[in-house]
Amino acid sequence: MRLIPVPRAKTGCISYIIADGAAGTCLVVDPPEDPTAVLRTVDGLQARVVEVLETHTHADHVSGAHHVGQMLGVPVRLPSKSQATYSHRSYGDADALRVGDVEVRALHTPGHTADSMSLIVGGRALVGDALLVGTVGRGDFYPQGIEELYHSLFDKLLTFDDELMIYPAHFGPRHGLPERTSTTLGEERRTNEALNQKTKPEFVRYMSEGWPPKPQGWEEIVERNLKG
Ligand SMILES: [Fe+2]
Repeated sequence: MRLIPVPRAKTGCISYIIADGAAGTCLVVDPPEDPTAVLRTVDGLQARVVEVLETHTHADHVSGAHHVGQMLGVPVRLPSKSQATYSHRSYGDADALRVGDVEVRALHTPGHTADSMSLIVGGRALVGDALLVGTVGRGDFYPQGIEELYHSLFDKLLTFDDELMIYPAHFGPRHGLPERTSTTLGEERRTNEALNQKTKPEFVRYMSEGWPPKPQGWEEIVERNLKG
């Protein structure tokens, strides 16, 4: 199994390719509106894309999932809680997705968005924006977001071992984040302020204060991403 991050400095977003080298097949996760870099990476692997996946409905950038799916003639798989209106397959909590011999286990980790999913594959976790390097994704896009994020983090992601490698969907200064694109669960357990809130009320208070404004035009971006 190979997991290849494709970061984009300009937007601070990260797409991923999960490939089974032996089978010559791969999944593309969270492709951007301009998928050139992702598709170039796929070409370099000499792999065939079998499906395009989204971890969640993005509110900060236009997704390329529907476009890439159409262009390559492959299905797009969206979280079962996604409100998307274009034709797609769904996946939900505890589903096992396959690419060649590689199994990808899905975990519903809502909070940043109601449909947010994490993907566990070979000791690694693609966590969307549930968990980021040194912080967590904002939980104020919908009313129950912060409480749901608490349970996704403390009852789901933090049950894994320290060695679990964490691959978020954002990095870099545009999002107030470090340049690093990955971390470990152990490092975050030790150093991440959000994860060191002692109680649920403390976490809710922490997540409710001091966050920058939501991305400009986020409601229109969500609407566009749902239409595909
Ligand atoms: Fe997001």
